Amino acid sequence: MSQLPKYARITGTGSFLPGSPIGNAELIAAHRLESSDDWIVERTGIRARHLAASGVTASELALPACRSALEAAGRKPSDVDLVIVATSTPDFIFPSTAALLQAKLGIASGGAAFDLQAVCSGFTYALSVAEKFIRSGSHRCALVVGAEVFSRILDWSDRGTCVLFGDGAGAVVLEAADEPGILATAIHADGSHHGILSVPGQICGGQPTGDPFLRMDGQAVFKFAVKVLADVANEVLAAAGMSSDELDWLIPHQANLRILSATAKKLHVPTEKCIATVDRHGNTSAASIPLALDESVRGGKIKRGDTVLLEGVGGGFTWGAALLKF
Ligand code: UT7
Repeated sequence: MSQLPKYARITGTGSFLPGSPIGNAELIAAHRLESSDDWIVERTGIRARHLAASGVTASELALPACRSALEAAGRKPSDVDLVIVATSTPDFIFPSTAALLQAKLGIASGGAAFDLQAVCSGFTYALSVAEKFIRSGSHRCALVVGAEVFSRILDWSDRGTCVLFGDGAGAVVLEAADEPGILATAIHADGSHHGILSVPGQICGGQPTGDPFLRMDGQAVFKFAVKVLADVANEVLAAAGMSSDELDWLIPHQANLRILSATAKKLHVPTEKCIATVDRHGNTSAASIPLALDESVRGGKIKRGDTVLLEGVGGGFTWGAALLKF
């Protein structure tokens, strides 16, 4: 009888950002917003974001991210037997973005492919699910992806939200391994807070009904995010019998530089160890963590053997974390 793998381990990372960065001043002018570069930088830390051209879908952003991750892992698409795409902006109502991505990658293994919707926590949810599939022995090589085109669900007349988000995709290859690996994961939800961040529209008779744009109570989200990001980080550290001073890197969901700083401070993690890309990417929802991870790996910050804590929070409300040896 074959032994179950001890760990699931990230063997490659990749990411993709569409087009050129769009600075705050350019965005403000394009949408005639009553805002300023100073306000956006001071309140959020965001200086630029990337926005997909009209018609470009989440699976199209995910494709180059997955190809890079596969190349970094030394794997071919045919090695992949599980594709999970975390997205709240799928290509279609169905089929899933993961199934479309599987076809675009030319994966003909008949392995599983599905989308997972946990908004900005989506990547931590997807990684946690993929880890369980791999450690159960049912699958051996997964593509875990966060891909979003949030620009499609923004109300460009609402200055309180439209300046915050961007488009992009990030991916990791997760494989069965005997050496660590993902050490601990935790995922949570509390649906009673669904009203503070949502896109409350529906499809009825082929038409969008209700309000199909992102709506947010920014201050309520801010307070909730800082609390649960600290809680869930402590939860996975405790599960692995580690303390925050053993972390080499902290990658929180990239929503707001002030949320990142407050979270790092609560966890007693020095700012230099907290990865920030929100200044250049904006909030790319489920894509933000794998984008920041890939950028840090390719930039030479995160190295093999480093201890990394990934954590996200988003609509639902949902939150989750993964502690790993890279
Ligand atoms: O992925 C998770 C999803 N999102 C988040 O994590 C976001 C969490 N929340 C936040 O990041 C912050 O709450 C925001 C950046 C959204 C807002 O910052 P804030 O410091 O909480 O500002 P506020 O909402 O209290 O607004 C202060 C003022 C208001 O004007 P009045 O009522 O004081 O006259 C807003 O209307 O700033 C105004 N304002 C703006 N002014 C210029 C809101 N957006 C803008 C803007 N430009 N873009």
